[in-house]
Amino acid sequence: MFISDEVKKEIIEKTNIEEIIGNYVNLKKNGRTLKGLCPFHSEKTPSFTVTPDKGMFYCYGCHKGGDIFSFVMEMEKFTFPEAMQFLAQKAGINIEQVESEAVSGENKFKKQLFDLFDKISTSLNYILLNKSNAKKALEYLENRGILRSSIEKFRLGYIPADRKWLYKFLSKKSYSEDFLSKTGLFSQKYKDISIFSGRVIFPIFSKSGKVVAFGGRCLDNSLPKYINSPESLIFKKSSELYGLNFAQKEIRKDNFAYIVEGYMDVIAMFQAGIENCVAPLGTAFTENHADIIRKNCSSVTLVFDGDEAGFKATVRSSYICEKADLDCNVVSLQKGEDPADIFKKQDKEALKNILKYSINSFGFLLNKYKTIYNLSKEEGIKDYLNNLFAFVVISESEVRRSGRLKAIAEILDTDYRNIYEDYARYLKKDDKKRYETTDLTLGSDKISLELYLMLAVINNYDYFYIVRDELSVDDILDKSARNIYIILEESYRNNSFSIENILEKIENSDLRSLIAKKYSSEEFSVNSKQLIDDSINVIKLKNLQIKRMQLERMIAKDDGSDPYQLEKLIEEKLFFDKEIENLKGISGNNV
Ligand code: UTP
Ligand code: MN
Repeated sequence: MFISDEVKKEIIEKTNIEEIIGNYVNLKKNGRTLKGLCPFHSEKTPSFTVTPDKGMFYCYGCHKGGDIFSFVMEMEKFTFPEAMQFLAQKAGINIEQVESEAVSGENKFKKQLFDLFDKISTSLNYILLNKSNAKKALEYLENRGILRSSIEKFRLGYIPADRKWLYKFLSKKSYSEDFLSKTGLFSQKYKDISIFSGRVIFPIFSKSGKVVAFGGRCLDNSLPKYINSPESLIFKKSSELYGLNFAQKEIRKDNFAYIVEGYMDVIAMFQAGIENCVAPLGTAFTENHADIIRKNCSSVTLVFDGDEAGFKATVRSSYICEKADLDCNVVSLQKGEDPADIFKKQDKEALKNILKYSINSFGFLLNKYKTIYNLSKEEGIKDYLNNLFAFVVISESEVRRSGRLKAIAEILDTDYRNIYEDYARYLKKDDKKRYETTDLTLGSDKISLELYLMLAVINNYDYFYIVRDELSVDDILDKSARNIYIILEESYRNNSFSIENILEKIENSDLRSLIAKKYSSEEFSVNSKQLIDDSINVIKLKNLQIKRMQLERMIAKDDGSDPYQLEKLIEEKLFFDKEIENLKGISGNNV
């Protein structure tokens, strides 16, 4: 393609490199250059430099460098023409010819998706605020204390309850069926049914303010409570934080961020005037999230829900923050509360007031674990220490480590040297052992292979016929998995599969949330057939091995009084031996 050097020159002239890069990196003046934490690799001391005189950036850590075009290309994953377009727009230069050439293949799709999401979010926001069929949704938000100004700022919307409405609405605007099926807005099976219908819509903005996905909340107690867009070329869950586009400036300014659990919490915090607040998106807070935050500030306060899940999330997130060199504090909320509830039930002063009672995350754990483990028993003390040592060992500073060990000694009212010795012993364990002895494992979903298989087929229902051909319900030992198998079998027989139907029939709410969570994740979308085949084989193999073991036991116990009986058992065992060998042969190394 041809882009005139003139245009390029004009962009360079009108672009302030310091300002553009400053949107992504917290830059500090250092003589003729500016310094900050490199956005391209993880680091704790700044080695990323910008030299405005030369219009260049360079990182002494990862050796990435270049001009402003290469910077935004790397940062936004743009092609060169897209980078031109982006910078031209920022500089107020109109270059239509660049646009037409920037769009090819994958980029064209991304651009179409950005455009579509931007338009949809605006339309849905209009509908929420103006249309009579959205009245219920508007009332719902009002009842939850959401102000009109927030509906506007966060561009909240509503998709009418008619499940085909969105499809009709968009096909009228001449989007192709094929394109719409790739937007994540519709059921994979029924291309004209929107997964978001009848829900309040929360557009998810990228850091630079583009809509990259949606979250949708139902208006009643039905499940799943929230549905989120699947991951796509423009949406990676672990790279997005809800609210960051609005909060980034404030976070930089304060050098500090609040992290809450959900959409509503972020909005409530903003309404209380606290604008340095973000939330991970329907997933746990990840290392990636911590790295993103670390590029903007050096300390965080976790304000998670006052329930078991919130506590586990707090433990895991404190650990992740500590590893990312983020100073971490915790606000504990009362049972059953979250920031949105406090705002709604009380007022913004109440919410602000509660936030004053934050304590350092290690102090929080010292006290919290005291209420969980029985310190009058040896076993309890052991668990208490193992969990706290996990936080001592990751601390980078010797001073901090010994301070923490001293704090433990004080709480247990024992000599520092005792704790130090226990800690030395702890260090001798290997990583796996250490990890297993902490609560950090609690936050992850422990899933049996059978349950894993069922979750995989829920996400790939077209393969259920394979499962029912290969495994009978009696082959499934895990209770939850069995439960799902039965429900799937039922929907197979009367051809009524839908995620809503499945969820409706699951009584256990933890299982329901797990299914909902996995359904909105991308976990099972790649290689799904292989995944399902492999899981089936492993389950079959396991069952065969159990049966063989039972036979072996019977053979060992047989007193030989009935020779036919013994012969029969041995024959059966040989049969299983052969089956097991066969299966191992099929599955190669996978089993
Ligand atoms: P919560 O269950 O705490 O939701 O989950 P909430 O924000 O308090 O919901 P409200 O106040 O009842 O509306 C916290 C976050 O986890 C994600 C959402 O991002 C939610 O805001 N989540 C929760 C899902 O993605 N799916 C769900 O089914 C539930
Ligand atoms: Mn909540």
